[in-house]
Amino acid sequence: MDLKYHQFISFFEAEQAEQLCQIAITENFPNQKILFEEGEKPDFLYLILVGKVVFKKHIAHNQYQTLAQALPNAYFGELGILDGQPRSAQAIVCEGSTLAKLERQSLMEILLNAKGSTVLKVFGYTTQRLRDSTDQYVKQLIYKEKMVLVGEMLNTVIHDFKSPLSGINLSSSMVKELHPDLETVEWCELIQAQAQRMSAMAEELLEFSRGNTVLRKKPVNLAKVLERFEKLNHIYLQEAQVELVIKAVDVVVNADENKLLRVVQNLVSNAVEAFNHPGGRVEITVGANGRWGRIKITDNGPGIPEEIQEQFFEPFVTHGKRGGTGLGTAIAKSIIDAHGGDISFESSCQKGTVFCIILPLVSS
Ligand SMILES: Nc1ncnc2c1ncn2[C@@H]1O[C@H](COP(=O)(O)OP(=O)(O)OP(=O)(O)O)[C@@H](O)[C@H]1O
Ligand SMILES: [Mg+2]
Repeated sequence: MDLKYHQFISFFEAEQAEQLCQIAITENFPNQKILFEEGEKPDFLYLILVGKVVFKKHIAHNQYQTLAQALPNAYFGELGILDGQPRSAQAIVCEGSTLAKLERQSLMEILLNAKGSTVLKVFGYTTQRLRDSTDQYVKQLIYKEKMVLVGEMLNTVIHDFKSPLSGINLSSSMVKELHPDLETVEWCELIQAQAQRMSAMAEELLEFSRGNTVLRKKPVNLAKVLERFEKLNHIYLQEAQVELVIKAVDVVVNADENKLLRVVQNLVSNAVEAFNHPGGRVEITVGANGRWGRIKITDNGPGIPEEIQEQFFEPFVTHGKRGGTGLGTAIAKSIIDAHGGDISFESSCQKGTVFCIILPLVSS
């Protein structure tokens, strides 16, 4: 959008609007560029012209919680500009964005000479933002309460799962020993791998409900992760009559391999569950760009229902499924966030859905 039509500029009289456009520094920012960190001294007010900015709060070591996002025509950073207090959150560019920056001192001078009605408009916008963040805060409190309940329930389930799972493990080890032919050994190993996955999944669900994703990071080749994924899901996909195409090059990211596998699993399972016609196809590609490794998961399904797209990554958002808990994509997002990466999607009923995940490359 053109700077002179931005809502912040339109709050002002013509002469001051002109002055604001003159002091504005318009800049393009790449995806994932950090504009400011929590605790930093405020220097600029930012007007979004193109793209998206998200705000994250540091909650624990290497863990950030996304508070909100802002789109074109929004502006941010005004609280620090007005009261001079340190930034209360991190602001990070979420897709290639164009922003106009207004330097604090010059902006304050223009504001001091502004009409009462202008100040009221700025004040109204800020009040609305504070209301929104209070709403968000209350929602998060309710969410935490729900999660405590989920965690308590899971503890019991996991406890009850342990003995049948070790029974499956033990039995398949015995079968392997009694029938050491190649084919039987291979099947038994698949049974054991799946049983291990089940207990890992249950543990991860528990971690998620506690809000502390514990990562065991090491250099991980994404092409190898997908190879493992294909092996573990070969039968599942065959039975669902879904074609899986993997186009991967060697890209090494710093990640927890099992958790990444879980992310891909959740997204692909969703695509498989959504197919309502034969000819279902899922394509996974791997690439890299600058400091980031990228996984793209594309399906030719019916698309994510529009009514849930806005809250898509929130827990308990589910649609059109019997037995869907609405946790799959929330877990996927929490894992990617814990890695300092990003997950986004585009979806339409004509084309299907594309998920794009980026993760820091090992050298960064
Ligand atoms: N690739 C996709 N195509 C179409 N719809 C999708 C796709 N991925 C997700 N969805 C929709 O998004 C909803 C939320 O997905 P999510 O994985 O978070 O929960 P769920 O699959 O319903 O339950 P859970 O994963 O906890 O068993 C799904 O119920 C489904 O309606
Ligand atoms: Mg799911």
